[in-house]
Amino acid sequence: MTDWIQRWKDSKIGWHSESINDSLTKFIECLGLMPGDLVFVPLCGKTKDMIHFINQGFKVIGVEISELGIKQFFDENEVSYSVKVLDNFVVYYNDDISIYCGDYFDLNADILSSVVGVYDRASLIALPADLRRKYASHLYSIIPTDSKVLLLTIDYPQLKKSGPPFAVSNNEVELLYSDGFDFQLLERIEDNVEPKFIDVGIDFFETATYCLRKKKRGK
Ligand SMILES: C[S@@+](CC[C@H](N)C(=O)[O-])C[C@H]1O[C@@H](n2cnc3c(N)ncnc32)[C@H](O)[C@@H]1O
Repeated sequence: MTDWIQRWKDSKIGWHSESINDSLTKFIECLGLMPGDLVFVPLCGKTKDMIHFINQGFKVIGVEISELGIKQFFDENEVSYSVKVLDNFVVYYNDDISIYCGDYFDLNADILSSVVGVYDRASLIALPADLRRKYASHLYSIIPTDSKVLLLTIDYPQLKKSGPPFAVSNNEVELLYSDGFDFQLLERIEDNVEPKFIDVGIDFFETATYCLRKKKRGK
């Protein structure tokens, strides 16, 4: 199991990007957000994509297990914050963003009751298969009906490399989400294989973007 807190301490955060994700800018409209709407970013790290949402006039709620990652987010973006304790979380917040420091699986529907959209980049794919099932069903249980989810995944021959990031196929997305969500594949691209994947013999690497909408069970 990945020790995320240690990875932050060791600065082993190769997933982090200093630029805004291309698929986010391309497909943000799928979330159907209106000015001031609240976007949930699970397993948020210190992603700059949260700054993008704020700059577009939206509010953000994130959850991240590493306090170091959260402090780096505020410090590196020169954003001021206050701190409060709420249930199992320490919340770092200002008028535009609240980042809950703690375990995603401790979040509940009350905390996320105003959420309109969810942005998942490198969150589902950060988790091994058993936790991915738990993650997807927990997501269903904590976000409001009709919330939209912009989901980014990657796929590659998993047998050749252990995650994270983990390969999540189109079939798996269907298995994880089709019961509780309408879902639409927005884009699937066969991408360049990064050197660290080529080194272990991987010759196929695909990225995919999905738009999900939470429906009532059985509808
Ligand atoms: C691969 S990173 C992706 C971060 C971010 N989504 C991005 O695109 O940069 C996964 C993040 O999830 C955090 N994390 C892992 N398990 C978690 C959990 N159960 N609850 C909250 N955060 C968690 C890790 O500390 C790490 O920052």
